[in-house]
Amino acid sequence: MAPRKLAAGNWKMNGDLAALAELDLLREAHPEPGCEVLICPPALLIHPMKARLGAHATAVGGQDCHANASGAHTGDISASQLKDAGATYVILGHSERRADHGETDADVAAKAAAAHGAELTAIICVGETEAQRDAGETLAVIGAQLAGSLPEGASAANTVIAYEPVWAIGTGRTPTEAQIAEVHAFMRERIQDRVGDADEARLLYGGSVKPANAAEIFALPHVDGALVGGASLKAADFGAIISAL
Ligand code: G3P
Repeated sequence: MAPRKLAAGNWKMNGDLAALAELDLLREAHPEPGCEVLICPPALLIHPMKARLGAHATAVGGQDCHANASGAHTGDISASQLKDAGATYVILGHSERRADHGETDADVAAKAAAAHGAELTAIICVGETEAQRDAGETLAVIGAQLAGSLPEGASAANTVIAYEPVWAIGTGRTPTEAQIAEVHAFMRERIQDRVGDADEARLLYGGSVKPANAAEIFALPHVDGALVGGASLKAADFGAIISAL
């Protein structure tokens, strides 16, 4: 059976309590979405967002968690705290965290293990820089990130992989269909020995997904949804992407 498609929004460091009004529009336009829908707002908004969604099926997730369960880690948030606030997912290893906070593959694997321990589904991000693509290193980079970032115990049920080419994030540029298809086929094959049944795992594409290009990206083999940044902030745009899945 093909995995259930997932439209995931990453609000990054955007949004406030007033922005939760977008959820009302999304609920009204998509009372019963045909795919799974997830929004990952800043951590402070997880709890009010979950409350605002009420009985609507949209899931809420975090954008990072600490590898430890609790303790003296000022400014950090544990996986169980995300869970307690209403999250069921957490994005890990986003290229912005890898760049801004020096997160390594080993850090990401440790965080993913913590997420699994708290019964959160981990969305593990991988992706090459433009220089790496130009140097013909894309698949080697993705392979190494997958090998290093997936923890023991990762399964198709508790782990989603998001391919986000760094050069496509927030730039309006996307890889060609052939480039996306190549990386996704490669990821499907590579994770087989890590997650058990790779065919069941959800592989998302992220990087300048918009209403205008969503349908063609979702039609590609091994693309099971999207991790959407900028276009997830407005209900009209995110709703159009949900409809395209
Ligand atoms: O995690 C989603 C992301 O990095 C893509 O951002 O704004 O290019 O859709 P954006």
